[in-house]
Amino acid sequence: MSKKKISIIGASGYTGGELLRWALMHPEMEVSQITSERFAGQSATKLNPNLRGFTQLAFVPVKELKTDIDAVFICTPHKAASPYVRQFWETGAKIIDLSADFRLHNKDTYAKYYQEHPAPELLDKAVYGLPELHREQIKGAKLVACAGCLATSIILPLAPLIKSKLIAPSGIIADSKIGSAAVGASFDISTHHPERSGSVRSYKPHGHRHTAEIEQELSAIAGSPISVGMTPHGIEMVRGILSTVHASLPGEAKDVDIWKAYRSFYTGSPFVRLVKDKETLYRYPEPKPLIGTNFADIGFEIDPEKKRIILMSAIDNLVKGSGGQAIQCFNLMNGFDEKMGLWMPGFHPL
Ligand SMILES: NC(=O)c1ccc[n+]([C@@H]2O[C@H](COP(=O)([O-])OP(=O)(O)OC[C@H]3O[C@@H](n4cnc5c(N)ncnc54)[C@H](OP(=O)(O)O)[C@@H]3O)[C@@H](O)[C@H]2O)c1
Repeated sequence: MSKKKISIIGASGYTGGELLRWALMHPEMEVSQITSERFAGQSATKLNPNLRGFTQLAFVPVKELKTDIDAVFICTPHKAASPYVRQFWETGAKIIDLSADFRLHNKDTYAKYYQEHPAPELLDKAVYGLPELHREQIKGAKLVACAGCLATSIILPLAPLIKSKLIAPSGIIADSKIGSAAVGASFDISTHHPERSGSVRSYKPHGHRHTAEIEQELSAIAGSPISVGMTPHGIEMVRGILSTVHASLPGEAKDVDIWKAYRSFYTGSPFVRLVKDKETLYRYPEPKPLIGTNFADIGFEIDPEKKRIILMSAIDNLVKGSGGQAIQCFNLMNGFDEKMGLWMPGFHPL
């Protein structure tokens, strides 16, 4: 069988570049076109020196996009993605959107957090692209809206505990630290090196956009509304997220109950690893050992005195938070092994 022909729209950005790295290494993918307006005609390796020797592709402008492909990955800002989803909806191509345009099912919620939805008629066609929650739906989907990076790091540790009703449905607080690549490749004074270096900065203490998808997904699991407060902090890493999530324990849950809930929920989810090791330096999840991989590491500690649980969750925002997750969804949509082209450990030391 011939390889699947794919194109990447918005390949000059950080998620597009990361996706290209994975796509070039994937045994069943052939990259047909990569787009950029600003860098049209220039080589992909000009922006991605890590790909020297792996590709001779040059960026093309979107007007030259061909539609006779097997899959298209959209790596543009939100709102800019919708016209491409519309364009490819009538073609045979599977669509994997890494922007936020199709993550929310409700157009009013989208309007509250983003703007008026540019293609509301397609909202109910999209499957939320978090394989650990929607594996079977993703397999049959034409359009997958990949989960947000912060959302992935917060939903994954909470979902099993909400499902098994081990934590209280209210008063959940997520505190996330995130690297600078999360804001994309375009220059912004707030992420300029002299401004960012050495700083730890709160930038959206409440009302962050990913709150909407976190609550949407967790409420669906609970069968009733779940409210989550989240506060992200920009820190001096380039890649990576560490989310620390606090929740109350209404019962007398012990470690063994939490382990059981995680093990049962994540059986068959190869990219979720449970990390809780009393003996080593690496006791809890942290981004560094998984940078460049599609893993999500989850750990926890119960505070019996305060009757609460502290969850820790680490991912690479450019892999499990975007490019890798997109490949994982592509694998499922095409009937491939979910791990295909993604199964590798990180670096140590780094
Ligand atoms: N960075 C992350 O950690 C992360 C994680 C998860 C999801 N995401 C989401 O992924 C998307 C891309 O993020 P990013 O960080 O890669 O951004 P980025 O580095 O700023 O790249 C944006 C890309 O979109 C292209 N683009 C912009 N407007 C376009 C339009 N109207 N039509 C076609 N192409 C257009 C740009 O190409 P030109 O060269 O033509 O300007 C560029 O290639 C965003 O929706 C973001 O929210 C990002």
